[in-house]
Amino acid sequence: METNRLSNTLAKALNDQMTNEALNAQIYLAYASWASEKGYDGIANFLFRHAGEERNHMMKILEYILKRGAKVVVTAIPAPGAEPVSVNDCFEKIFKSEVQNTASIYSIVNMSMAEKDWATWNFMQWFVKEQTEEETLAIDLLSKIKIAGGENANDDALYTLDKDLEKTPDDARLAQDVTAANP
Ligand code: FEO
Repeated sequence: METNRLSNTLAKALNDQMTNEALNAQIYLAYASWASEKGYDGIANFLFRHAGEERNHMMKILEYILKRGAKVVVTAIPAPGAEPVSVNDCFEKIFKSEVQNTASIYSIVNMSMAEKDWATWNFMQWFVKEQTEEETLAIDLLSKIKIAGGENANDDALYTLDKDLEKTPDDARLAQDVTAANP
């Protein structure tokens, strides 16, 4: 008896997204290692923690594919690309890769809507919200480096930024979560 509840199209898209999340984990690992080598331990810790989050995203999708009775296909992960040339470049690259990931999440939402696969549509809403958080976090990083001087940030400003990131929470707070009682 056929128990697969995912179309071939959505199973392929979700498997591809698993690889995207794994690639994001590799990107954060690569950038964290770069930051550590340069002596930015606060930035490195922040990025290492985030690499773990990306792996959790991959596992969340993997478990969903299995629960829907479809096949998980684990493939090679593409290389993370060139390492950053500066903290500013690092944060710009992070923002760019999160925006790309959002586009790929939205495309799966569109596919699930076209197929009227409401289970997948509903599952993907968690990722829609998560991407808003991730983009907000990346925008916050860009704001911090901009205040520090962007590409021209001096050692003092980078030292302060590095210390600041040691204490930065892993998740950004979203406008949609703000209430009058809890602004
Ligand atoms: Fe899983 Fe940063 O996207």
